[in-house]
Amino acid sequence: MAKLKDLSIEMFGVKFPTPVLLSSSPVSNTAEMIGRAFDSGFGGVAYKTLGFDKIKIIHPSPRMAKYNYGNKKLVGLQNVEQITDRPLKDNLQDIKYLKKHWPKHVVIASVMGFSEYEWSELAKMAEGAGSDMLELNFSCPHMTVEGSGMKVGQAFDLVEKFTAAVRKSVKIPILAKMTPNITDMTEPALYAKRGGADGITAINTVRGITAIGLDDYVPEPNVFGKGAVSGFSGPAVKPIGLRFISEMAQCSELKLPLVGCGGAETWIDAVEYLLCGASLVQITTGVIHYGHRIAEDICEGLSDFMTEKKYKNVKDIVGKALPHIHPTDAFNLSRQGVAEYDLDRCIGCGQCYIVCQDAGGQCIEWDDEKRRPIQDEERCLSCMICSFICPIDTPPMITFKEIKNKKPVIPPVSK
Ligand SMILES: Cc1cc2nc3c(=O)[nH]c(=O)nc-3n(C[C@H](O)[C@H](O)[C@H](O)COP(=O)(O)O)c2cc1C
Repeated sequence: MAKLKDLSIEMFGVKFPTPVLLSSSPVSNTAEMIGRAFDSGFGGVAYKTLGFDKIKIIHPSPRMAKYNYGNKKLVGLQNVEQITDRPLKDNLQDIKYLKKHWPKHVVIASVMGFSEYEWSELAKMAEGAGSDMLELNFSCPHMTVEGSGMKVGQAFDLVEKFTAAVRKSVKIPILAKMTPNITDMTEPALYAKRGGADGITAINTVRGITAIGLDDYVPEPNVFGKGAVSGFSGPAVKPIGLRFISEMAQCSELKLPLVGCGGAETWIDAVEYLLCGASLVQITTGVIHYGHRIAEDICEGLSDFMTEKKYKNVKDIVGKALPHIHPTDAFNLSRQGVAEYDLDRCIGCGQCYIVCQDAGGQCIEWDDEKRRPIQDEERCLSCMICSFICPIDTPPMITFKEIKNKKPVIPPVSK
């Protein structure tokens, strides 16, 4: 394997050996598993959320459900898990152990309290155990008590109040982890900033239902006959994560370092989070699907990308897509194009014809003898759906081509 480039990046003066982190979840639940992840290329961890032991946490059984789509496994993952069920003292001991044995890796303690006192005490204990940073969990979607988890992230004054309580109690940097179960994340992020947060992590899971049993009508995971609207993660939520990160990165008032999370599995996903303005990328579902080895793949891909694009440092990639992300009314509508077909490579499956007839501009006729599409470019909407379903895609047989002075196509009325 070629030698990797230096993938380190600093945030608040803390150096991460790589920008790939475990996010707070079952993948960051014990020092033993986190240590192995560090050895595989993860640069840090947001440790599974700590809380006070006064409420004994018992996770529902089963606590997760898969969302497979076609042949693709774990396009998404549904979970009803709570914060850590391990005793606080065990978790603090594990954090100490990690800092002792992997001093160059970064440990971010995720915490969640129910009052200013609890937030501040947990923060002090996590700092005392040697955590490099804190991540305030304002986003757990399974908290039913007002003033906890996602219900804090949705009540913006509480975001500021609890962040301020923590800020007064500790010196280490503070990240606020936000819920995507709102419309605009820049607003609560600004409340977190006013409370003293140094950075923002986004996103936690999106509330949803992935599947319902057709015999018992119970949403999955089916916990002995009961289901719930609960947290959804994995590749299917990446577009939502990228959206929130880019919107916060573009907010001129916010200007805080960002940690991206949600659906990252490959080096391309990680680079996309960096391009949208995140300095670090956290992962859970990808680790559940593929194990720690995805960090090796991500680091190798990121290193190759940096060599190819002549980046010396990871930080130079951060935010590079932002100048290209505009409101939709900024498009130049005077430029139009068509779907262009490389018919020499066509295998005659007819899928382009079907999709264009049933869902596109009806600009394709089918030559039954030659088994080839006959395209009327004048009527092509350039919606490109034919290219999405065409099986010849490496490289694509159907590509977008600009046609100078082409008028926008409006489908005709039926006569
Ligand atoms: C089973 C499970 C448990 C989780 N527990 C926590 C948690 O304790 N604290 C937290 O901040 N986020 C928790 N998360 C959310 C993840 O950290 C992450 O934000 C989310 O899964 C999106 O990332 P992903 O698509 O890479 O999984 C959990 C996610 C899953 C799947």
